[in-house]
Amino acid sequence: MKELFIVANWKANMTSSEATKWLQRCQISNVIRRPADQISNKDIVICPPFTLLSMMRTQIEERKLPIKLGSQDVSPFPKGAYTGEIAADQLKEFVSYVIIGHHERRKYFREDDQMLANKVDMALASGIVPIYCVQDEHTIVPKGVSIVVYEPVFAIGTGEPDTPDNANSVATGIKEKAGVQTVLYGGSVTPDNVHSFMIMEHIDGVLVGSASLDPVSFGRIYTRS
Ligand code: 13P
Repeated sequence: MKELFIVANWKANMTSSEATKWLQRCQISNVIRRPADQISNKDIVICPPFTLLSMMRTQIEERKLPIKLGSQDVSPFPKGAYTGEIAADQLKEFVSYVIIGHHERRKYFREDDQMLANKVDMALASGIVPIYCVQDEHTIVPKGVSIVVYEPVFAIGTGEPDTPDNANSVATGIKEKAGVQTVLYGGSVTPDNVHSFMIMEHIDGVLVGSASLDPVSFGRIYTRS
């Protein structure tokens, strides 16, 4: 049975009270069931905004939820005089994973391949696993990356996902890159289409944006994958 990753990218959404309700819902309605998770092969990673990492870590521990945390970004610099940045060494207290190279970072913040490679180096040096986003099989993947997400630009937030067959064929190409072991699909993933991606031979999970904001819909993605 292959190991599956179900990763939520909350982007710039959720306040602390909304996140608390989300976690309560998971716990009360057993949306994400711990026993199922313990015997299954599914890893759940939530990537909230930086502002929620501390309280999410505490609540996940208190509620004994089978959820790991990731951040949505990391500084390309070490700790020090870099106003506004959060260094990997600071993040490692809270997260096991970090999303790097998301299309929205490349587009709105002009992050280029060199900067993204520096971010990967920083994450790896602090023991944080990069979840590296690419737009197609030709996007450069920095050395040391083992988890890649194929997120075609046309599918992000549009309700128009790629076809599972095409996503699988792109994933096959990505897995030929040195060091890449795991490829996820992202872009308009919903409870209705998640299974069609998960059954593809070279797709090992999903990165979910808008559908992860509702705990019921995220729970369905989990159970149907
Ligand atoms: P949507 O699931 O909202 O299309 O977002 C995809 C995404 O960008 C996840 O990182």
